[in-house]
Amino acid sequence: MNAPPAPPLPDSRPLTGRARPDRRPHSLAEWRAEGGYQALARARAMPPAEVVEQVIQAALNGRGGAGFPAGRKWTFMPPPDGGPRHLVVNGDETEPGAFKDRFLMEALPHQLLEGALIAAHATVATDISFLVRDAYRPAIAALSTAIREVRDAGLEGGLRLHLHASAGRYIVGEETALIAALEGSRPVPRARPPFPAVSGIHGRPTTVNNVETIACLPAILSEGAQWFRALSRTEEGGTKLYAVSGRVRAPGLFERPMGTTARELIEAAGGVSGTGELLAFQPGGGASGFLGPEAIDLPLDFGHCRRAGTMLGTGTMIVLDTSACPLGVLRAHLRFYARESCGWCTPCREGLPLAARALDRLEDGGAQPSDLALLEDIAAEAAPRGRSFCDLMGGAMAPLASLLRLFPDRFTAHLAAGCPGRLAGIKESAA
Ligand SMILES: Cc1cc2nc3c(=O)[nH]c(=O)nc-3n(C[C@H](O)[C@H](O)[C@H](O)COP(=O)(O)O)c2cc1C
Ligand code: SF4
Repeated sequence: MNAPPAPPLPDSRPLTGRARPDRRPHSLAEWRAEGGYQALARARAMPPAEVVEQVIQAALNGRGGAGFPAGRKWTFMPPPDGGPRHLVVNGDETEPGAFKDRFLMEALPHQLLEGALIAAHATVATDISFLVRDAYRPAIAALSTAIREVRDAGLEGGLRLHLHASAGRYIVGEETALIAALEGSRPVPRARPPFPAVSGIHGRPTTVNNVETIACLPAILSEGAQWFRALSRTEEGGTKLYAVSGRVRAPGLFERPMGTTARELIEAAGGVSGTGELLAFQPGGGASGFLGPEAIDLPLDFGHCRRAGTMLGTGTMIVLDTSACPLGVLRAHLRFYARESCGWCTPCREGLPLAARALDRLEDGGAQPSDLALLEDIAAEAAPRGRSFCDLMGGAMAPLASLLRLFPDRFTAHLAAGCPGRLAGIKESAA
């Protein structure tokens, strides 16, 4: 693949620019020496509504998957009534292919904490809860130390700070399941309305934001909304912490202007490995639809991805070369989502294992045309929003529906005998 040189880094990298190469987190004193907590002081000198307006002007779209504008989300919080109000920082990050929040929590805990204190000021929160994936032990340790230092220095400004480890299921990251978990209940999603801003933790107003969303806030407050907006190549503000994994020579994290293309990101990750030729990619983790090589110059932001029929999601790209079997990757995804279904909605509880078993037959041998008909039915019937209580089901269907559209011949080539690549030994040689 002939790709142009990697895109230039923005002059400033507001998300990762202060991280140390060895990921060692800063002490409070070190963070302050880097200008840390000045943005918080600036925010606290402003009325909350002004901070909200600044974040609206910065065009910061939430980085947790759906890309909802952060400042607008905060306006849904009702006026304070003297009772508890919650900000939850979502660091559950269990999506296949996603590993960006881990870096921010491990390497930049004070940046995240400063962002959370800014968001709490803007939403007039009384409590901040960090929910971190249990397997992320260094992130939990880094945040725990940072919280203690902030408390000791009296920087928490009367807020209650809580740190929770999630028990390690994907569904806990869904915001209403997460709220249930924080209440000590079984983490299953809740029907909306009421939305969390109106009735969240123990029925009190609650805002849930992703780690990366919150980590953008110190830069917005110090450098200004227009500066942040101008970092992007599109209408959506800022830089994005993209990740590239799969069939690339140097998988990793790359902070680039929002709207950077897949071509530029793959090049930054050393180019396509295996055959060196791109077959397809998922722009936003396991729950985003695949795109073919013709989309390699699509600006990767939430709007462009949506209009192209996929999602930016977590912004963590999975790349396949021409020797990879897309059905094998799909099987791994479907097995994951089937296992992680909370079981509340029938299409998700029953449909995902059925789809995963059909993929087993397609890969291992013995699949019939009725298996293809079943997959097409499930993809068509279960994917639309509103057919289930949360987006796990729709997300799980996105790779299936897109592969049925992109590679119908590959599905039929898998009938009866199984994966042609496996039979020819191709998958092993390309690994
Ligand atoms: C099954 C499922 C899992 C999710 N997991 C996460 C997660 O680990 N982290 C996250 O920030 N958002 C996750 N989300 C999205 C959250 O529900 C929520 O939209 C997000 O935390 C809001 O943050 P943002 O507005 O800053 O993007 C998940 C959604 C679903 C449906
Ligand atoms: S879509 Fe799946 S994970 Fe989401 S609420 Fe329904 S059964 Fe649970």
